[in-house]
Amino acid sequence: MTGTSEGWIDLTGKLALVTGAAAGIGRASAMAMASAGAVTIVLDRDEHGAAQAANAIQAAGGRAIARQLDVTSEPAWHDLADWLEREWGRVDILVNCAGIARFDRVDEAMFETYREVFGVNVDGTLFGMTMALRFMRKTGQGAIVNISSTASLKGNPAMASYGASKAAVSHFTRSAALETNRAGLDIRINAVLPGFTDTAMAQAVHDRFDEKLGGHDKTLAIFSSGRAAQPEEIANLVLFLASERASFVSGSTISIDRAQGA
Ligand SMILES: NC(=O)c1ccc[n+]([C@@H]2O[C@H](COP(=O)([O-])OP(=O)(O)OC[C@H]3O[C@@H](n4cnc5c(N)ncnc54)[C@H](O)[C@@H]3O)[C@@H](O)[C@H]2O)c1
Repeated sequence: MTGTSEGWIDLTGKLALVTGAAAGIGRASAMAMASAGAVTIVLDRDEHGAAQAANAIQAAGGRAIARQLDVTSEPAWHDLADWLEREWGRVDILVNCAGIARFDRVDEAMFETYREVFGVNVDGTLFGMTMALRFMRKTGQGAIVNISSTASLKGNPAMASYGASKAAVSHFTRSAALETNRAGLDIRINAVLPGFTDTAMAQAVHDRFDEKLGGHDKTLAIFSSGRAAQPEEIANLVLFLASERASFVSGSTISIDRAQGA
């Protein structure tokens, strides 16, 4: 497989894990890791989707293995760690991409959606980081990319738990990066904050607003700078941050939204 960034980003010899890799941004990120030469572990609670994504990577000449993982399950992360130890003995890259969005408001009963959203977006990211860091501390190197969102940057009256969960992801990212930096480890931890990106998740949000605002063009104009990003456009930034090309980037939370939040 010829790389997206052949000769510029080379992940040959690296083991990369991507959660939420059956669809959307996660799938595009897994494809990007593999196309740069990494052996890529495609993780998703959707077993069939993960297998399909891994097959697509292999068909394109990359190396990928699918495994089912529900990121909310701590025991499932332990099982994954045991398997990784047995089979590979290392983790070089982790992309925490699995996420869900729900509509909720603070002035309504929201604890069900809050727990569900924080379970996937926050617990899932923390379980992933702590597992990967155990491996990375052994080699003293690694890169973690957490997928946050521009929805974390300001109040969000339609998806309060979602925005808050992504703010938590960004903040844990900064704290973890400081910890590894102060420990003298070459483990870089960053967050990517996509704006609207053309995936199943965004479609559900768009559908809701198209009706309210009077058409899809109006939704796009308000939320997406006229168009949504393609998952591959987000994956390019994920790939850069996972690579040595980003050797001085850590603790950063980087928006990728064509100035929508400017
Ligand atoms: N699409 C957007 O506009 C947008 C914008 C900003 C941030 N994001 C974030 O990007 C990430 C990917 O979103 P997407 O738009 O590609 O969504 P998507 O719905 O297309 O894909 C999400 C994937 O995560 C998986 N997943 C969900 N819960 C899981 C769990 N408990 N364990 C394991 N896998 C699980 C799903 O099966 C799916 O394959 C999410 O964290 C999302 O919050 C998306």
